[in-house]
Amino acid sequence: MKATRKSTQFSAVPIIVAALISLMAAKAMASGETAANVVATPGQVTFAKDVAPILQEKCQTCHRAGSIAPMSLISYQDVRPWARAIRQRVIQRSMPPWFIDKSVGIQHFSNDISLSDEQIATIVKWVDAGAPLGNPKDMPPPKVFEDDGGWQLAKVFGRQPDLILEGPDYTVKTHDQDQWFRPITDVGLTEPRWAMAVEMRPSTKEGRKVFHHILAGLDQDETNAPSAQVKVALGPNGADGGGGPAAMGLLMEYAIGKNFDIYREGTGKLIMPGAKIRWEYHTHAEDQDVTAHAQLAVYLYPKGETPKYRTYLTEFGAYDVKARLDIPPNSINETQGFHVLKAPARLENFQPHMHLRGKAMEMEAILPDGTTRVLSYADHFNFNWMTNYIYATDEAPVLPRGTIIHVTAWHDNTTANPNNPDPDQWVGYGERTVDEMAHAWVNVTYLSDEEYQDWLSKHPSPAPVGRRGAIAEPSSASRN
Ligand code: HEC
Repeated sequence: MKATRKSTQFSAVPIIVAALISLMAAKAMASGETAANVVATPGQVTFAKDVAPILQEKCQTCHRAGSIAPMSLISYQDVRPWARAIRQRVIQRSMPPWFIDKSVGIQHFSNDISLSDEQIATIVKWVDAGAPLGNPKDMPPPKVFEDDGGWQLAKVFGRQPDLILEGPDYTVKTHDQDQWFRPITDVGLTEPRWAMAVEMRPSTKEGRKVFHHILAGLDQDETNAPSAQVKVALGPNGADGGGGPAAMGLLMEYAIGKNFDIYREGTGKLIMPGAKIRWEYHTHAEDQDVTAHAQLAVYLYPKGETPKYRTYLTEFGAYDVKARLDIPPNSINETQGFHVLKAPARLENFQPHMHLRGKAMEMEAILPDGTTRVLSYADHFNFNWMTNYIYATDEAPVLPRGTIIHVTAWHDNTTANPNNPDPDQWVGYGERTVDEMAHAWVNVTYLSDEEYQDWLSKHPSPAPVGRRGAIAEPSSASRN
């Protein structure tokens, strides 16, 4: 397992830290201080006072016994051997898994788990000072984590879900390669209903370690669908936003760190009678066989109630539909896709999807007046994390009819990409992780022209933002 390998690698750290502590302790004792606060000189950053609260807030949901991360980051003893690794990960912004460039685009999200610059500085200072414990009396009371047995949304809504859909069990074999298991099950509704929130999880704690992500696609015939207020002419097979017979929309995606979706007020997702769930379990093996399945909880609007807005999970491709992807060996490749909004719309989130060579993705709005606005830029995408960035209500961009959503993707097929299995290999579009994809999953909520005008009258138009800042233009790289 990863933790074992890494803890060997970092095994020098605790020894050095321990040596430092006893050295400083000896010094402090000599000057008459008590042993408890020996390692903390006044004003010094300590674990107890400064670092533990950050770990409680930003790390422990995953880094505790029984959760998904390889090691616990709760007690000083847990954390100390990892001090160096933590320093490195927070500086790189590869932990917590939040890969949005902080210098461009929308910066307020409802599910932001990233560290602030101050928090990063505090952690770095602490490690650089020898990772002192400080005064144990400064330790915050341990954070209580709810027993994971229940649905998180049950606490939000104060009731159990209306539907609990279960996928079939799947056994992830020890040391197996990544697998994609794609069973289909019935939803079992007898009339059209609207979902207001969904939550998904692997059925067991062990399952959480081996389910990389789970998709629950909705496969349904919408010929007789009741419509939410705004009708939009949509693409033939859902690729441009759902709709049409046998539209396959995504109802929910579970990924490490993403458990539920609550749609904004008055907004829902339609589930038709006869609908089926197309599951996709993407698994990766642990050091023992694990059998588990996906569970999907759905909260519905009351019978007969139609929310004002329908949100469509939309795949905005970052490539030319015909050319798709053509990534030469040993190169950084840039591709672009353009999508016209056929009605005014609010974009609810940004979720870049690429595979092993994924490097970065940007979503930009080209407004009908020609001005452009970078909405989001994930500057250091990591295949292990399909993080979904959900815009805070006040910042979700509302865009006029005719806006072009311009998505740019970068793939890194060089040795510089640690996830790259073979930089000498040409890579094209495909399902396997060794093939590539490049699209943004975005929940698009369409508005009527009146609603858009109304919104506009209450919101000053945001200043246009130029092209991305930080990414190096791939100089020697080929472009599509
Ligand atoms: C959403 C869950 C999640 C959160 C939040 C999270 N981690 Fe992690 N962390 C993981 C998982 C899973 C791994 C192993 C996979 C990986 O490296 O991406 C990991 C790996 C790490 C590693 C590398 C371990 C190794 O084997 O080298 C470090 C260090 C780390 N996390 C520190 C942190 C710190 C510090 C925070 C908070 C500031 C944090 N993590 C927040 C889930 C999380």
